[in-house]
Amino acid sequence: MYRRRLGVLFLVMVFFFGISFGIAAQEKQGGEQELEDMAVPMGIIVLEPDASITPKKAPVEFHHSKHFIYDCKTCHHKWEGNTHVVGCSASDCHDVLQSPKKPTKYLSYTETGIKYYKYAFHQMCVGCHKELKDNRKKLEMSLTVVKDQLPKTGPTGCIECHPKAEG
Ligand code: HEC
Ligand code: HEC
Ligand code: HEC
Repeated sequence: MYRRRLGVLFLVMVFFFGISFGIAAQEKQGGEQELEDMAVPMGIIVLEPDASITPKKAPVEFHHSKHFIYDCKTCHHKWEGNTHVVGCSASDCHDVLQSPKKPTKYLSYTETGIKYYKYAFHQMCVGCHKELKDNRKKLEMSLTVVKDQLPKTGPTGCIECHPKAEG
């Protein structure tokens, strides 16, 4: 399902360039102008709501580079490869701080529903981990693989991502 091709390349780059590495790309309109080196956060990014929100749950420690087995665009789905990556809550993206009254229609989020940052994160993060767990379960049932060859999956339980209750 997910594209792994880029992931391998990036892991190699990460190995050679360490903490941050540059992505040389041409800017679309600028033509000649090279995009400045983009600093890609390695290791853990702490994800928490906007400062104006009193969080109900502890911040999430998201290991960015462990996820580089996937194409960057799996998550940075608006990124076109020739611009800087913008954060998830950039303006007009997932920048809504409260759930709208009717966030879903026919069991999926509406265009405004998914702008609520919490739904965006849960759909993306928990959604992928759930799918991986389902696939893993199928593998287990098929009995064709040995237990320690089973692929790693990410957490789906609240406490695994939000470790301790806040306040
Ligand atoms: C599994 C999802 C996922 C994948 C895959 C992923 N990222 Fe990210 N990345 C994130 C999240 C989440 C953040 C934090 C965004 C925020 O704070 O709003 C982030 C942040 C960033 C930032 C900092 C953005 C800012 O706010 O300044 C850059 C740059 C970045 N990623 C580049 C990459 C590159 C390059 C790749 C591919 C090698 C990649 N990411 C793969 C989820 C991902
Ligand atoms: C496209 C699939 C995918 C997406 C999207 C994704 N993950 Fe994961 N996640 C994985 C896989 C695969 C692993 C196991 C990787 C490993 O342990 O090396 C993992 C592991 C993790 C772990 C445990 C890693 C550790 O430190 O040992 C956490 C925590 C996690 N993910 C959080 C998140 C969060 C938060 C997001 C959303 C910003 C997210 N993931 C999005 C696939 C995904
Ligand atoms: C794969 C990781 C992951 C899992 C599992 C997960 N969340 Fe989250 N959750 C996030 C991320 C990332 C955010 C956005 C960053 C933040 O606000 O902490 C978030 C945001 C939230 C928020 C809004 C911010 C706040 O603290 O008020 C709540 C509430 C929340 N989650 C509750 C839950 C509950 C309840 C569960 C279990 C049913 C759960 N989460 C499972 C990753 C996860």
